[in-house]
Amino acid sequence: MKFYNRQRELELLDLLYGSRPSLLVLTGKRRVGKTELIKQFMKDRKSLYFFVDSNKSIEILMTEFNHLLKDGLGLPDYIQVDETETFLDFLTTFEEDVVVAIDEFQRFLKIHPSFITQLQKYWDLRSDNCRLFLIISGSSIGMIKKIFIEEGAPLFKRADNILTLKPFTIREVFGMLEDIGIKDTTEKLDLYLLFGGTVYYYRLFEKYQCTGFADALEKLIFNEFAPLGNEVRDILIEEFGREHATYYEIISAIAQGRCSLSEISDMSHVSANSLAPYFYDLIDLLGIAEHRIPVTDIPRKSRRGRYFLKDNFFR
Ligand SMILES: Nc1ncnc2c1ncn2[C@@H]1O[C@H](COP(=O)(O)OP(=O)(O)O)[C@@H](O)[C@H]1O
Ligand SMILES: [Mg+2]
Repeated sequence: MKFYNRQRELELLDLLYGSRPSLLVLTGKRRVGKTELIKQFMKDRKSLYFFVDSNKSIEILMTEFNHLLKDGLGLPDYIQVDETETFLDFLTTFEEDVVVAIDEFQRFLKIHPSFITQLQKYWDLRSDNCRLFLIISGSSIGMIKKIFIEEGAPLFKRADNILTLKPFTIREVFGMLEDIGIKDTTEKLDLYLLFGGTVYYYRLFEKYQCTGFADALEKLIFNEFAPLGNEVRDILIEEFGREHATYYEIISAIAQGRCSLSEISDMSHVSANSLAPYFYDLIDLLGIAEHRIPVTDIPRKSRRGRYFLKDNFFR
């Protein structure tokens, strides 16, 4: 598979790599290409990639991280880094060149929040000879803000850079389409209007050997086996496991224009008083929905707030 564009982003990563120790926060919408960018950068460097799976417990996750770390660095068996503190301590005192990425980091808020304050502690105490380039990545922009950007946030001002990965520009999309055999400009424009700048959709286009716009609609969205037919549900299952159905109902309600608490409650079988945790996940963890209040009202006190979906594809 060909890797497209992202030259400026790779240059920034290279620059930070050159001045280790560094901490980069990488954020951006789901499917925009964060993981791919990390993997591309890691290709010819000694690297460790950790993925935070929200359906795993912290114990299982740490057992997995322990193995990955020991295999990746070729460490002897007697070293055990399967506790969060020993793991972080090891990384921040390791004195060889290494790139470490922790992907979908915000999920620690749910799985094991103290990991975040522990990371702050060990990062601040890192050894003078630490040669680590740490990449913290996450799809939830709101959550990353709460962890790194807002005052009082656990990792406030620790990041050397915060990179928000943008979708491809129309020019970049056209270039990619040209490459996969779509030469007609109207066809390219139609596809761009449908999929926007999210690379992932064009990779599917290629994989399913779509011949053009109409073919893509059929094969990728409407067909019985279309990969995007269940995109929304798939994302929710990945994130929430068995509880996904309730989230799906809430999103469907908002998508149909039911924006107030009572309307959403009616459609989702969750009482209005119990909706808060679901909104927290949808707004803060996933960045799918948002809460807007009239500009003249006081935040938190307003009773006229309305919920909306932020992500085009979810609508
Ligand atoms: N620069 C790129 N060039 C080619 N394909 C890409 C690029 N970035 C992302 N992709 C494709 O899009 C898909 C989704 O990207 P991914 O990195 O998983 O997104 P994210 O981690 O932001 O959710 C990848 O599987 C890959 O097929
Ligand atoms: Mg990813």
